[in-house]
Amino acid sequence: MTPTRTSSTLDLIDLHPGAADLRRLVRAGLMQQPKQLPAWLLYDAEGSRLFAEICQQPEYTLTRTEIRLLEQQAETIAAAVGPGVMVEFGIGNARKVDPLLRALRPSAFIALDISRSALTDALSGLASSHPDTSMLGVCCDHSVLAAMPSHPWLDNQRRIGFFPGSSLGNFSPEAAVELLQRFRHLLAGGPLLLGLDQPRDPRQLEAAYDDAAGISAAFARNLLHRLNRELNGTIDVDQFDYRARWDEREQRIEMALISRIDQSFTLEDQHWSFQANERLITEHSVKYTPAAAADLAARAGWTIRERWHDPADQLSLHLLEPSD
Ligand SMILES: C[S@@+](CC[C@H](N)C(=O)[O-])C[C@H]1O[C@@H](n2cnc3c(N)ncnc32)[C@H](O)[C@@H]1O
Repeated sequence: MTPTRTSSTLDLIDLHPGAADLRRLVRAGLMQQPKQLPAWLLYDAEGSRLFAEICQQPEYTLTRTEIRLLEQQAETIAAAVGPGVMVEFGIGNARKVDPLLRALRPSAFIALDISRSALTDALSGLASSHPDTSMLGVCCDHSVLAAMPSHPWLDNQRRIGFFPGSSLGNFSPEAAVELLQRFRHLLAGGPLLLGLDQPRDPRQLEAAYDDAAGISAAFARNLLHRLNRELNGTIDVDQFDYRARWDEREQRIEMALISRIDQSFTLEDQHWSFQANERLITEHSVKYTPAAAADLAARAGWTIRERWHDPADQLSLHLLEPSD
């Protein structure tokens, strides 16, 4: 896709997967057993709006806890990571990077996100509150990004990565190792600040991912609306229930849409069927203890140099540096 340039302090490069990629991924995901789609498909404009609402729900404490920790530790983190341009993987609504930008005052901030609307809203908000930092958005799937695009604000600069929100937990442990290896390559020797929350009371976790107001359920159902919209689908969304369950063995929450009945539908003339009670996994959220996080990082060629955590020690910001 051709890069779209906007202004001199705010710039956007659009590498969003095209319709053919969407078709291929959906077909592959619906042929899996159990059926599962990549978590990034949850984030179209409506998905990003709903995710921002999830972060406000009383049960979903992760965002508030991580923001508080970042605000408290921003100066210490800035001193530990040293100078460089900042690169955030999956910026969402930009609530978390703000204290780091204030403490680090980088010449440029590069935000990657699959959601165009989240990216442009986040960067235009940050550009007005951080006028001395150039803002570059890259709309892409960072799990397959082979190289950072060349750009004068980024080329030959030391890079400091930021990956908060336990987003790594959306990947299986094997895929998480691959992603961390990819980030090591994309950051070209620079450090990575990685935010992960830890396993805890399953009732608390299940409530966090299935809030009483039904926003998490609407977020998952929006995936089906998206398939209907973008693949000319005939899915009866009301015939799916939402469920979030803790899996003790895998140390993860599984979020899924459960078919209420035997049903079938088409997506671009291709037929798909679900049996009653069959599930479509919309995302996983793997939880890592600090020891498990250190093991994962080591497998990907990173060493954890520092860890900052909240008073209850349920969420950690890990500072990773390349092992060699
Ligand atoms: C769970 S939200 C976290 C947002 C924010 N970083 C936070 O911690 O609150 C994940 C964000 O990453 C984006 N995202 C998810 N998967 C992605 C992928 N494979 N490539 C790029 N962005 C992705 C989503 O659009 C969303 O904005």
